[in-house]
Amino acid sequence: MNVTIIGCGYVGLVTGACLADIGNDVCCYDVDANRIATLEQGGMPIHEPGLREIVARNRGAGRLTFTTQVRAAIEHGDIVFIAVGTPSGEDGSADLQYVLAAAQEIGRYMARFTVVVDKSTVPVGTAERVRATIAEQLALRGSDALFSVVSNPEFLKEGAAIDDFTRPERIVLGCDDDALGERARELMKRLYAPFNRNHERTLHMDVRSAEFTKYAANAMLATRISFMNELANLAERVGADIDAVRRGIGSDSRIGYHFLYAGCGYGGSCFPKDVHALMRTAHENEQELRILQAVSAVNAAQKQVLARKIVARFGDDLNGRSFGVWGLAFKPETDDMREAPSRVLIATLLEHGARVAAYDPVALEEAKRAFAADLDSKPEALSRLTLVDDQMEAAKGADALVVLTEWKAFKSPDFAGLARVLKHPIVFDGRNLYEPLALAEAGIEYHSIGRPGASRTAARSKRPGGPVPAFSA
Ligand code: NAD
Ligand code: UDX
Repeated sequence: MNVTIIGCGYVGLVTGACLADIGNDVCCYDVDANRIATLEQGGMPIHEPGLREIVARNRGAGRLTFTTQVRAAIEHGDIVFIAVGTPSGEDGSADLQYVLAAAQEIGRYMARFTVVVDKSTVPVGTAERVRATIAEQLALRGSDALFSVVSNPEFLKEGAAIDDFTRPERIVLGCDDDALGERARELMKRLYAPFNRNHERTLHMDVRSAEFTKYAANAMLATRISFMNELANLAERVGADIDAVRRGIGSDSRIGYHFLYAGCGYGGSCFPKDVHALMRTAHENEQELRILQAVSAVNAAQKQVLARKIVARFGDDLNGRSFGVWGLAFKPETDDMREAPSRVLIATLLEHGARVAAYDPVALEEAKRAFAADLDSKPEALSRLTLVDDQMEAAKGADALVVLTEWKAFKSPDFAGLARVLKHPIVFDGRNLYEPLALAEAGIEYHSIGRPGASRTAARSKRPGGPVPAFSA
């Protein structure tokens, strides 16, 4: 089939590459000329494991092309995916300007029956606005070309996007209940058939329910995380271990093990904005989603949890102190810095006067851009942040190491070596990566999330030279 993708970001690129890989002829269009030039030269504008190889393979086979020529792109597709960003507007609602701009282009140039697919995460009712925008453009040029708008939200996770797309747990398809909707549904079924072998994963529903499903899923997952983070903070107070509690409740099949990890808060391009957008939709419909208000507030506070622990340990004035940071993107295996907890933690440490040396295996370039923007009005603070390209270099001479993401390379470092390079052998772990005893044996004081036993274990350890001494400068 001939497929067009509008927007070559995390979702658009993955969608285009994976659909080309099963034999479709895919044309990817983006307004960002630099991004298209990079892709045309065989480069990759984002870090997503496995994507580079699939793009190269399908470009080579001539099934995947990239363009800034909107007319040619729209004319190419029997199915046109809208996969542009829907960032938070000032009031928290999803900003639909890019989606509606894409719809306008479709209306301007489509020449035959076209299935228009909303792949972007969009509020309930958006398909109707997309339909109206396209119809308006068609009317302006007197075209009677037919089309149908389908809602097909995407559930991929960054870092595992290829696997999520090609082996989906479900494919949600919201189609209109009319003849054109039926025609669109049949085309979409054919398009996704290769991902449905052996087991039908497509859930058919009406357009509004499909749009709603995406927000409901992300809001539910964000709720689980904030709930666990709040329990973790209580566990610290009452002397329980949140990891034991997680295993205890996860074993109940009604709860399950996924998305129960306490940490330094959720980030990324989806959870924060989608939680806000759903709250906004509720507000516009005269309902307040009180649970989501709490989810969001708990998350904002949780992004400060390590900074609070650091200040409690070292005092309010961090002038003359330095901290190493491992992990800058919002999670491992991505370079995406959107809403990353590192942005909050590092800004807070700098505000308190500290120096920071930070490392990430793939996000250094993105991080440079993100911190330059965040600290635009604070050049002196920015000058105290160094991004380094070596894990141990970040820890060298630091008063403490702060771990923010669970990259494999961070999971079992040489603790003895780490203790040697740190000025003070102290680790603040925002992802509960380590066995407290292992650190205690290396003489490292250990602070994690919701595991009060951790510091106690360290203090009780039989480390040579006795337990970690009380801190002094
Ligand atoms: P992104 O910011 O990585 O990419 C968006 C791309 O669209 C950019 O390259 C931009 O230049 C391009 N663009 C903007 N306006 C355009 C226009 N009028 N015509 C052509 N191109 C245009 O965004 P993303 O992370 O891929 O997210 C896209 C959508 O998918 C969002 O609605 C998001 O909520 C949703 N989503 C994202 C993820 C994820 O993990 N990133 C997962 C599921 C759903
Ligand atoms: C999310 C959804 O999972 C995906 O279905 C949707 O399509 C896009 O949004 P993504 O943002 O890529 O995917 O990453 P995800 O793995 O969901 O993690 C989001 C954030 O939650 C990360 O900051 C992660 O560290 C945090 N998280 C996740 C936790 O703090 N605890 C957990 O148990 C799981």
